[in-house]
Amino acid sequence: MLIFAHRGASFEAPENTIAAFSKALDAQADGIEIDVYPIEDEWLVFHDRYLARLTAQSGRLQDLTLAQLRTLKVFGQQPIPTLDEALDFIGGRCQVNIELKGADIKRGLTRHLRRAVEYANFEPEQLLVSSFNHHWLAQLKQDHPLQRIGALTTSCPLNYAYFAAQLEAWSVHIDVDFVTQEFIDDAHERGLKVFVFTVDEPDDMRELNQMGVDGIFTNHPTLAKNVLHGLFV
Ligand code: G3P
Ligand code: MG
Repeated sequence: MLIFAHRGASFEAPENTIAAFSKALDAQADGIEIDVYPIEDEWLVFHDRYLARLTAQSGRLQDLTLAQLRTLKVFGQQPIPTLDEALDFIGGRCQVNIELKGADIKRGLTRHLRRAVEYANFEPEQLLVSSFNHHWLAQLKQDHPLQRIGALTTSCPLNYAYFAAQLEAWSVHIDVDFVTQEFIDDAHERGLKVFVFTVDEPDDMRELNQMGVDGIFTNHPTLAKNVLHGLFV
């Protein structure tokens, strides 16, 4: 079972920052999950629509200029990275799951993905784009049929993973609170990988591994490596 560091190793360093990605690489995570918003002609790595939880600024992310956002510090410590900065830092050393939050994929997302392969040592299959907005994923898949996409859900739909197969997704990503063995088996029968978020408890890590889940997103990759592989004990 793959271990993705959720927003980087966000238990150990400010989430979605270079420091959290560095900790995730130290933990030998198989992948790093990041959240991105399009701001002006860039993509910024940030989770919330509002700034107050993560920075000393109030208001909405989209109401500040890129220049203003670049002066902010996450938890007073780390700057908000651009997608390019994040990918350049990770540099193909593990997989990256780019979760689209406020997305207009016409704003050059694929240029950044191509750049990561050409200049930052990524193989195309190391890059997985996911979202709760399946319309954006459908559009991305239509424009770039070979791009791996991951369809997110917080629920267990009546038709299980049908929606992800319909999108021709690589993977389906489901909330730990709603994942069932039936959902996992249905997804696998449809040829989909199953990734589960957000898994920080050892009992859940062990159980999901036994259920045949392909990967988890965890804020604590060091703990997950310890629980699942006996590393860092
Ligand atoms: O991509 C999995 C997970 O990150 C989705 O939820 O809110 O933590 O971005 P959230
Ligand atoms: Mg996310």
